[in-house]
Amino acid sequence: MKTTAIVLAAGKGTRMGSDVPKQYMEVNGKPVLCYSLESFQKSGVSDILIVTDSASVEFVKDLAQQYGISRVIGVITGGRERCFSVLNALRHLAQEDPGPDYVLIHDGARPYITSSAVDMLAEAVTRYGAVVAASPSKDTIKLTDREGFVEDTTDRAVTWCAQTPQCFEFASILEAYERIVAPLEAGGSAVTVTDDSMVYEKAFPDKRVKLIDTGSENGKITTIADLEYMKYFFRQQ
Ligand code: CTP
Ligand code: MG
Repeated sequence: MKTTAIVLAAGKGTRMGSDVPKQYMEVNGKPVLCYSLESFQKSGVSDILIVTDSASVEFVKDLAQQYGISRVIGVITGGRERCFSVLNALRHLAQEDPGPDYVLIHDGARPYITSSAVDMLAEAVTRYGAVVAASPSKDTIKLTDREGFVEDTTDRAVTWCAQTPQCFEFASILEAYERIVAPLEAGGSAVTVTDDSMVYEKAFPDKRVKLIDTGSENGKITTIADLEYMKYFFRQQ
């Protein structure tokens, strides 16, 4: 059985507002991306595929070598939106022989994932077919209209924040992306796909997705404040 991690690093980090994309910014001397790469390397996952922008391919290959990430099977280029970067990765893996049985799709901007959480998710996906790292929401979630007026209040006991890795049986998520995301690539319409699970949910309304609690600390680095907290967090380790 083959499980491949897809690590996404093709974003520009617009909200961070730095020259260097956030996944390459250093925290305590190590690029953000390398934290999760080390966790995958330490886990039972056999293969790692990294997706980046065309200008960074050589840089990322060097980083992987420098940090001893020997399970990297390729560094490929992404697309203009996250979902197109994922589509590229899935299509790339479809050409492998044998292809993966399962994939774990991870944001390179999420450095807190541990190797034990990766192993837990990789095991769970063989049981459920689709599992997503998540944390129960701490706040009460409100649904609003576009102007910000409340339309509904959700039950906090059943609201979660979706994170990554998002893990799927490979053939199913490939089919879902080909059906739902591939047609969006040509069109000029706004793309509202924000995670992998929603693609899977849309393609297979009858299949279930299991959320696995990986803790609220599995957050994404989006702003300078997130970087400052990350420095503090890993200094305590
Ligand atoms: N990502 C990607 N390809 C894209 C856009 C995003 O591979 N076209 C990756 C990012 O590198 C990141 C993850 O998807 O690891 C989550 O995206 P996000 O946090 O939104 O990162 P950015 O798009 O880089 O940031 P921003 O939205 O602020 O520009
Ligand atoms: Mg983005």
